[in-house]
Amino acid sequence: MLYTQKFDSFVKITHLNHPPTAAPETLHTKTKILVADDDTFVLDSVSILLKKSGYTFDAYDNATEALAKLQASADIDVVLTDFQMPDVSGIEFLEKIRAFNPEIPVIIMTAYAELNIAINAIKRGVFDFLLKPFQPDQLYHTIKKAVKYYKLTQLEKNYTTTLENMVSEKTKELANALEINRKMSSELIQRLSLATEYRDFKTGAHISKLGLYTERISHVLGLPGKFTKTIQCASAMHDIGKIGIPDEILLKNGLLCHEEFETMKKHTLIGEKILSGSSYFTIQMSASIALNHHERWNGTGYPRGLKGEDIPIEGRITTICDQYDALRSERPYKSPCTHREAFEILTKGDGKTMPEHFDPKVLNAFIEVASDFNDIFHTKHPWPDQSQGRKKALFLNNHEQYINSR
Ligand SMILES: [Fe+2]
Ligand SMILES: [Fe+2]
Repeated sequence: MLYTQKFDSFVKITHLNHPPTAAPETLHTKTKILVADDDTFVLDSVSILLKKSGYTFDAYDNATEALAKLQASADIDVVLTDFQMPDVSGIEFLEKIRAFNPEIPVIIMTAYAELNIAINAIKRGVFDFLLKPFQPDQLYHTIKKAVKYYKLTQLEKNYTTTLENMVSEKTKELANALEINRKMSSELIQRLSLATEYRDFKTGAHISKLGLYTERISHVLGLPGKFTKTIQCASAMHDIGKIGIPDEILLKNGLLCHEEFETMKKHTLIGEKILSGSSYFTIQMSASIALNHHERWNGTGYPRGLKGEDIPIEGRITTICDQYDALRSERPYKSPCTHREAFEILTKGDGKTMPEHFDPKVLNAFIEVASDFNDIFHTKHPWPDQSQGRKKALFLNNHEQYINSR
């Protein structure tokens, strides 16, 4: 039952013997205390003292109701309880409180005979205890100490929560900013690559598809996530060196002579020169791809005629992807291959393109995901397709001719 306080001999006695040295505080209306004691004598006395001191409180003569009240109220700051009550023991009461509120200070009121148990209770999470009969000052002091502790705990908890929320919010913002930055950089690279490709009849879609092919192969090869993400963007710049090839060679309407082919091959070196020396991993990989995307596993490629694993893996991956897309694409001098035809040429050879041009592991990875290549090829890419208009110009792009002369 909820107690309304009434004056009691316990208080009279304590006041007579030990009148409070400090004037009862009257500014505690914001502090709410829950009192539980089956001894109505103690309950009334404590109630009087708390009222006198200006505290707001609820007093119960049993632990069950007190516990229900505590569970239903979020504004209680301190629990003041008897150690032995008929329905629930002090320790049980404490455990039940701790189950839903690990922080609220619990002060035990106990008799001297129970001192050892009380000390044990403190070890188990009781904030403090008051020995009955206690003096009003002892009560005030213990409550003040508990309230201060609880407020500090709540302050720290709120501060930690606020800090955690702030960190989480900032982390999200940073991740979003990084993602925006990554997407913008990627698009910028594709658009810049497209600018150099514009002299060619290949389209932005080729660049976009190449990124997806290289990503698939890298994934199947089990290369690290960072590599797989990077090659998708870095492969876009594989032919950036064509910017340094004179128009009369790049756009020549006819077969290139030996010297002109030699000049054309230099797009790999020019591309590497444009991109080398960067401190960014993507640009470093782009430089490597620009230099190595025409190397062949059997050493018959250019510019350096590297063989086997001397060719960086990003170059080995890009070359087969570039070849696949070139085979599937229509050119002024050739019809497009079907997926099956391109697959046969890459895996069995046609005299010009041979399987030994490719790293066997990369070729196997291609075989594994070949149907994905077909899907990627047929996917609409958000890039302008200049091929139709430019094909009408009927000039023969000699770099493309050189790739496909194989
Ligand atoms: Fe190239
Ligand atoms: Fe290409």
